[in-house]
Amino acid sequence: MTGGADGRFIAFEGGEGCGKSTQARLLAERLGARLTREPGGTAIGAEIRGIVLAADDNGLVDRAEALLMAADRAQHVATVVRPALADGRHVVTDRYIPSSVAYQGDGRGLGADVVRRLSLWATEDLQPDLVVLLTVTDAEARARIGGTGRDRLEKAGAALHEAVARSYAAQAAADPERWAVVDGGGTVAEVQARVDAVVATRLAL
Ligand code: TYD
Repeated sequence: MTGGADGRFIAFEGGEGCGKSTQARLLAERLGARLTREPGGTAIGAEIRGIVLAADDNGLVDRAEALLMAADRAQHVATVVRPALADGRHVVTDRYIPSSVAYQGDGRGLGADVVRRLSLWATEDLQPDLVVLLTVTDAEARARIGGTGRDRLEKAGAALHEAVARSYAAQAAADPERWAVVDGGGTVAEVQARVDAVVATRLAL
């Protein structure tokens, strides 16, 4: 998106327990931005979220999961993200297209390219100005999540989570101008200082 009055669009990405929800909130507060998330950033999205993040296995097949994530995103972009940007507000989202590429494309093995194309169609090609990827070690992530996962995806096996981590690294390497890889280790304040520095350098915000 271009155009003088438009706000900037920033996405936080990372595996479970990386601290991105906390950092997304802190950045949105600092910028006075609209804070939102996927899946579930709209009323319809909340219903979709109930299906894709059901507490137990509900028989949802991988392709249906990918389409529901894209449907959530289409609703979110059309009714929340684009209107806010057009109003000149910055938007900070907790997860966006890279999550689908990582979890459904590479994690579930549906293919990164087709899943990315599906989301680009769903959003009419809305790309973030900046993607902040928070990285933490497996041990740190496990300590923060605390034992077993809360939903279908958190309970998925280690193989899925390793594929997700590799996917994020590959996506960041392929598009270094849009992506910033930030060390998510340490205290909330330490990570926040790293995020603020990246946002200042990349977006002058
Ligand atoms: P959530 O409870 O929002 O927490 P967190 O982002 O802190 O993990 O979980 C969102 C889950 O949905 C997470 O397991 C990743 C998954 N997800 C996908 O698989 N594909 C997607 O496109 C999105 C947006 C999320």
